[in-house]
Amino acid sequence: MSEQDKVYPVNPDLAAKAWIDQARYEQMYQQSIDDPEGFWGEQGKRLDWFKPYNKVKHTSYDPHNVDIRWFEDGTLNAAYNCLDRHLAERGDEVAIIWEGDDPNEDRKITYRELHREVCQFANGLKKLGAKKGDVITLYMPMVPEAAVAMLACARIGAVHSVVFGGFSPDAIGSRIVNSNSNIVITSDEGLRGGKRIPLKENVDEALANPEVKTVEKVIVLKRTGGDIDWHDHRDVWYHDAIAGVSDECPAEEMNAEDPLFILYTSGSTGAPKGLKHTTGGYLVYAAMTHQYVFDYKPGEVYWCTADVGWITGHSYIVYGPLANGATTLMFEGVPSYPTSGRMGEVCDKHQVSILYTAPTAVRALMAQGEHVMDSSKRDSLRILGSVGEPINPEAWEWFHRVIGNGRCPIVDTWWQTETGGILIAPLPGAIAQKPGSATLPFFGVQPALVDNEGHILEGATEGNLVLLDSWPGQGRSIWGDHDRFVQTYFSTYKGMYFTGDGCRRDDDGYYWITGRVDDVLNVSGHRMGTAEIESAMVAHPAVAEAAVVGFPHDIKGQGIYVYVILADGYEPEEDLQKELVKWVRKEIGPIASPDLVQFTPGLPKTRSGKIMRRILRKIAANETDGLGDTSTLADPSVVDELIDQRLNR
Ligand code: WTA
Repeated sequence: MSEQDKVYPVNPDLAAKAWIDQARYEQMYQQSIDDPEGFWGEQGKRLDWFKPYNKVKHTSYDPHNVDIRWFEDGTLNAAYNCLDRHLAERGDEVAIIWEGDDPNEDRKITYRELHREVCQFANGLKKLGAKKGDVITLYMPMVPEAAVAMLACARIGAVHSVVFGGFSPDAIGSRIVNSNSNIVITSDEGLRGGKRIPLKENVDEALANPEVKTVEKVIVLKRTGGDIDWHDHRDVWYHDAIAGVSDECPAEEMNAEDPLFILYTSGSTGAPKGLKHTTGGYLVYAAMTHQYVFDYKPGEVYWCTADVGWITGHSYIVYGPLANGATTLMFEGVPSYPTSGRMGEVCDKHQVSILYTAPTAVRALMAQGEHVMDSSKRDSLRILGSVGEPINPEAWEWFHRVIGNGRCPIVDTWWQTETGGILIAPLPGAIAQKPGSATLPFFGVQPALVDNEGHILEGATEGNLVLLDSWPGQGRSIWGDHDRFVQTYFSTYKGMYFTGDGCRRDDDGYYWITGRVDDVLNVSGHRMGTAEIESAMVAHPAVAEAAVVGFPHDIKGQGIYVYVILADGYEPEEDLQKELVKWVRKEIGPIASPDLVQFTPGLPKTRSGKIMRRILRKIAANETDGLGDTSTLADPSVVDELIDQRLNR
């Protein structure tokens, strides 16, 4: 039996106590497909609505009229659902456990305290002129105030746009311009792995660009007390914004389809796109998946190691857990600081039951050997989760055996920024796991595999992963550019949502994601567009042309490989390689740092001038034998030179 055929059956004791066992999964799944109106109409009741909905589902994937609405005549408020409605029953239970970068710093915040902080900051925002419909940009470290700020926006009906703290000033600036954002919330500095991140300085630099015109206020949380520049007309301390303001703030009545947030993500072409998520359907879906996929039980401590700057942080640190009245752990630091066993130590310290992390983090621990987990017992763990990229079976086994002491099921959750919540995953009480497979669809989710012409393929096969119908958490549009939304997701295969992922289905109907089939990279679980990196590269005067591809990387999953044709007058020197790496870090951010930069006099192109990426990918992967047909190249000799000078051997 190959590693891939290994099956980890459902633990009967766990199944007996789980929200969803196999019979229930099958019955509910069938109902969700046969009668989506009835199914979701019932599920929508897990939230408190100001005005109940009568219409449940109104969705069209017709490329002439892509229109996605859920619960469209209902009204509610997301912050109310995450806070107020819990106060009577569990106001004094812990909502957020914050664990600082420094292991001696932590904080526990009850639902009552969080409610008060959110109301106060919401009033602070209003005092500074914020109102319903404004877009507010967050560029924050992983501190409770990041969640407070998100919820405060939701409370007053402002739309938050969180920009990951690892992005550059340019990336912040372009997102502000694209969204017409008028307020930025940031911090003097962030703290990660003992290092200070100059967040305010990056915001200052972003706003110094004359094209960034819309920002009126910058609210600054004091985190480290580090030195920062101050602009009196614009900058306001967070503590001043809330000083003396009331801690009572009514929650704005929002329509289910009013936007809750924008989140920018990379695609295969052009600049990152702002996915628009709305209020009602998103929150129903985030809460429901959080409860069922992690089998979350009241009182358990749940830890998702993502950053709130990504969709995983939005749905599974903030909105899903808090809508469920859960205790969510928020970690400021990195898993390897100050000790390489920190992740396990945090699990012991806070008695974590559910740990949701990324394959890259598992592989980084695995690379150090099993002794890295010696500093912790992790016997509080019950469920493990994985997200962000395919988890290779070796890492899966290690995660299970070493981190989970061989006791905990692993939910490998496949989903995307666009999907709002988890779409394919093994519910732990219902679905047997196979290492490396995300297994079966969640309720209401209809995956299918199609060939390149869009024909649906049946049975055990491989193809492009599409979804045949909508679910409530689905992104509704691209901010300010609905045509691009239609073009990107609904025009490749008519009547279907195209995910951009390739996928295999086995004899048991299990789905195995094989990775992106478009020009999107997945580096340490972070999505990067090759086009974005290429355009950053060519902005450097030394670069005439650049082509970016991914290559297999032991820890990161994929590394970034750049081929560069130099401009006249520049020499292929090592210093220039280093400078170009630095340049991309500055243009996009450290997560986009190229691993390898190869100078080349030419690139393999078809006679019509199209770069043949297939060949570049093979060379970057050091697979130079099966290059396939190169006879259509304008100049086949380029390939020999590229192979000869390749950097990954
Ligand atoms: C990949 C992250 C395999 C996939 C939530 C997808 C995965 C992209 C998995 C979305 C998984 C995410 N197995 N691949 N469990 N989870 N992916 O938007 O290629 O940052 O299309 O959302 O990550 O990345 P995004």
